[in-house]
Amino acid sequence: PSVPDTPVEIIVDLLSKAKNVAAARGDVPKELTSYLQKALDIASGLDDYLEKMTTQESQTLKMLIHMSQAKRVLEIGMFTGYGALSMAEGLPEDGCLVACELEPYLKEFAQPIFDKSPHGKKITVKTGSAMDTLKELAAAGEQFDMVFIDADKDNYINYYNFILDNNLLRIQGVICVDNSLFKAKVYLEDTTDRNGLALREFNHFVSNDPRVEQVSVCGHRELTNSDDEVFRGVKGRSILDRMRLEGKVAYVTGAGQGIGRAFAHALGEAGAKVAVVDMEQNKAEAVAKELFLKGINAISIKADISKSEDVQRMIDTIVSKWGALHIACNNAGINMNSASEDTSLEEWDQTFNVNLRGTFMCCQVCFTGCLSQNCVKVCDSGSHRDLPHPQKQLSYNTSKAGVVKLTQTLGTEWIDRGVRVNCISPGIVDTPLIHSESLRPLVQRWLSDIPAGRLAQVTDLQAAVVYLASDASDYMTGHNLVIEGGQSLW
Ligand SMILES: NC(=O)c1ccc[n+]([C@@H]2O[C@H](COP(=O)([O-])OP(=O)(O)OC[C@H]3O[C@@H](n4cnc5c(N)ncnc54)[C@H](O)[C@@H]3O)[C@@H](O)[C@H]2O)c1
Ligand SMILES: C[S@@+](CC[C@H](N)C(=O)[O-])C[C@H]1O[C@@H](n2cnc3c(N)ncnc32)[C@H](O)[C@@H]1O
Repeated sequence: PSVPDTPVEIIVDLLSKAKNVAAARGDVPKELTSYLQKALDIASGLDDYLEKMTTQESQTLKMLIHMSQAKRVLEIGMFTGYGALSMAEGLPEDGCLVACELEPYLKEFAQPIFDKSPHGKKITVKTGSAMDTLKELAAAGEQFDMVFIDADKDNYINYYNFILDNNLLRIQGVICVDNSLFKAKVYLEDTTDRNGLALREFNHFVSNDPRVEQVSVCGHRELTNSDDEVFRGVKGRSILDRMRLEGKVAYVTGAGQGIGRAFAHALGEAGAKVAVVDMEQNKAEAVAKELFLKGINAISIKADISKSEDVQRMIDTIVSKWGALHIACNNAGINMNSASEDTSLEEWDQTFNVNLRGTFMCCQVCFTGCLSQNCVKVCDSGSHRDLPHPQKQLSYNTSKAGVVKLTQTLGTEWIDRGVRVNCISPGIVDTPLIHSESLRPLVQRWLSDIPAGRLAQVTDLQAAVVYLASDASDYMTGHNLVIEGGQSLW
């Protein structure tokens, strides 16, 4: 049998001994024996039950990394690398973990194991005294989202202070400390154990340190009190937090594929509930399903935005489902190519009915239907080709120029009602729209026109839609945000 180590194991050991003593005597009241047995059942079942209900021991560290969304981790005290690897498993592809280890032989032991794992490349082991490594990291201006302190206990307090004094932990970062209860020795009156006393002193110091908020074993770096919004963040929210869309309801038209699909994913990833709207039901459903798989609250709506009854039904469906609408992303658009002299009035009308009239109807119905929310963000899809361009698409170009003008007009007319209207004008985006027979020959020509040397990917536009949809862009309205790799500059 193993030597009792954790406070629970020690309690189980003591209760078992007490139960044996009680059983050996004939005069112990039944009530006391029953209490002892109940206490023993509860304490002795705990670790076993937790182990059975937990996937693997290593998952705890991995889960901490997930929960804190850390990308850069510092581990002080690596040993065999077991903890380092499980944390690396929780890191994103571009995440990194620096592990400090005194003993070079432990690096030799762990490195081949790291090399075999797909996550091992995220780990860099620095051997030698952890304090020397911390000094080196601080001199290089390194910063971490999470620090795991698990080396020599005497030095916990020095590591902790050095980390905070030298900004090795970013604001809102987390320090995680192993062994902070140390076999209950941190709170037992008669503790003489050196490590127990060191940890007791450490816990006491951290619990009184105003630089951090503490939850038992973890410290969370806080900002000191300040009214300065630049320092503290607007309403205490950092710039990235201000771009979060939790609690917001959005729709994206034409979200069944291409740019709209990427917008729907981006808004959902930022926290919004998303209505995926497309005239093709199966496409809208497929994208809503993708979002749902990612844990995003999504619905699909079949609607043709050139039909007023569809637009009204779209807004009604969203408001009745989620009770509000905050972000209207009017992305649906069509493009038919023909030389101006060959452009039929039918083609002109069709293009304008979707691109300009449809976008206007969405804005208008959305405005009247959601005005009470008083904070609606509208993002329209323009095109940098509302500027003159050799491509033969008169009706498309003029309709998109109209979208920019619509955006400018609504953006100023409705601002006093708390509505911001902006549009994104992408350059040439690599989507099914440009893979048509007629456009394919132009791709080479475009490429030579684009300083960035490539077509835009739909992912190049995602941050812009989140920014325009968020509180961070409150001062922006009527703006045409052109994202074209510099194409309009040459
Ligand atoms: N692809 C580009 O290079 C590019 C460049 C600048 C601007 N844009 C604009 O971005 C928007 C999206 O472009 P994309 O390349 O992703 O297009 P796409 O053709 O790949 O996708 C458009 C989606 O909109 C849907 N749709 C079309 N008409 C609709 C309507 N009346 N009602 C509802 N849904 C409708 C389609 O079913 C399709 O799923 C368009 O407004 C387009 O003009 C595209
Ligand atoms: C408890 S183990 C770490 C376990 C590891 N964090 C894990 O979860 O798998 C402590 C490690 O700290 C190392 N260590 C002790 N003192 C150190 C120091 N001053 N600098 C760096 N590492 C140290 C020890 O060699 C040992 O490998």
